[in-house]
Amino acid sequence: SSTEHVKIVEVGPRDGLQNEKTIVPLSTKISLIERLSRTGLSVIEAGSFVAPKWVPQMADSSSILAHLNKNPPQPSQHISYPFLVPNLKGLDAALSPTHPASEIAIFASASEGFSQRNLNCSIDESLARFAPVVSRALDAGVKVRGYVSMVIACPYSGPTPPAAVVDITRKLLDMGCYEVSLGDTTGVGNPHTVDVLIKALVEAGIPVDKLACHFHDTYGQAIVNCMVGLANGVRVFDSSVAGLGGCPYAKGATGNVATEDLVYFVGMNTGVDLERLSEVGAWISDTIGRKNNSKVGPALLAK
Ligand code: HMG
Ligand code: MG
Repeated sequence: SSTEHVKIVEVGPRDGLQNEKTIVPLSTKISLIERLSRTGLSVIEAGSFVAPKWVPQMADSSSILAHLNKNPPQPSQHISYPFLVPNLKGLDAALSPTHPASEIAIFASASEGFSQRNLNCSIDESLARFAPVVSRALDAGVKVRGYVSMVIACPYSGPTPPAAVVDITRKLLDMGCYEVSLGDTTGVGNPHTVDVLIKALVEAGIPVDKLACHFHDTYGQAIVNCMVGLANGVRVFDSSVAGLGGCPYAKGATGNVATEDLVYFVGMNTGVDLERLSEVGAWISDTIGRKNNSKVGPALLAK
C-alpha cells in the first residue's frame, strides 16, 4: 500500500562516480552529496576507503568524510553516509579520530573470479579480512552494511549458484552486518533468476528484512528486478541518481537503477521529493557531461 515504507540507499556519489574516467572535482562530489541530502534520502553512500591505485576516483574520500563531519547537512532527519571499506587500512581512515564515519560497508563477492579482480584475494581470504574490520567497527559504534557481488552471474566465473549467495550472505550477517545488499553487478539478472535467488535466501532462513537489492541496469532489467524483490518482501533498494555508475572491476557493468525511476516506480512512501531529486539528476549529468540515464527525471522536469 502507499503508506508502506521503502528505504532507498543512494549510491550515486560512490558507485555512480567510481567508474568515471575523469577525476570529478572534490567540490562537485560534495555538492552532489549536499544536494542529495536535501531530497529526503536517508542513506547516501558517500565514498570508499580503497587503494587509490585501484580506484583513483575515490582517493579524496577522507576529505568528503571530514567535510560531512564539519558541515553536517541541515535537515532535521538523520542521514547516514556510509563509506566502503575493504580492509583494516581502510577502516583506520573511516575511524579517523577527528572525523569518524558513522557507517561503513564491506563488500564480498559470490564468485571467485570477481573476488580476485576486485579484492585481489579469494572469497575465503576476503571474509577472513573482513571479520576484524567488522568487529572493530562495531566496537567503535559504527554500523556495518554488507554487499555480495555477482549474485546472478559473473563475467569471469559464469552463473552464480544461489547456494553460494546464501552462504556468503549468512556469513556477513553472522559477522555483524545489519543488512546485506545483493549486487547484480553487471545487471544480467531477469525476473526469473532474481526470483529464484531471493526465494532461495528466504527458504534458507535469511530474514527478508535483512536483505537489500542492488541492481545495475546494464540489460535494462533493473526496475523489473526491483519489482521481483518487492513482491518477495524486500523493502530496501540501492540506486543511483541519474543512473550514474558502473564498477571498475566488472567488465561491461553500467550504472545502477536510477533513483528517480525507483522512487516513481515503487509508489510507496520513500520520503523522497521526486522533483528535487530529478533536478539533482539533471545537474550532476550536466556537470560531469554524462547522459542522464533516468527516464523519469527528464520526463518530470519537461512537464
Ligand atoms: P592489494 O594490492 O592486494 O593491497 O589490493 P595491498 O594490501 O597489497 O596494498 C597495496 C597498496 O595499496 C599499498 O600501497 C597499500 O598501502 C595500499 P603501496 O605500499 O603500494 O603504496 N592500500 C590502501 N590504500 C588506501 N586505502 C586502503 C588500502 N589498502 C591497501 N584501504 C585492496 C587489495 C582490497 C586494497 C584493493 O583490491 C582494493 O582497493 N580494492 C577495491 C576495489 C573497489 O573499490 N571496487 C569497487 C567497489 S565494489 C563494487 O562496486 C560492487 C558493489 O557496488 C556491489 C555490486 O554492484 O555488486 C559494492
Ligand atoms: Mg554496484
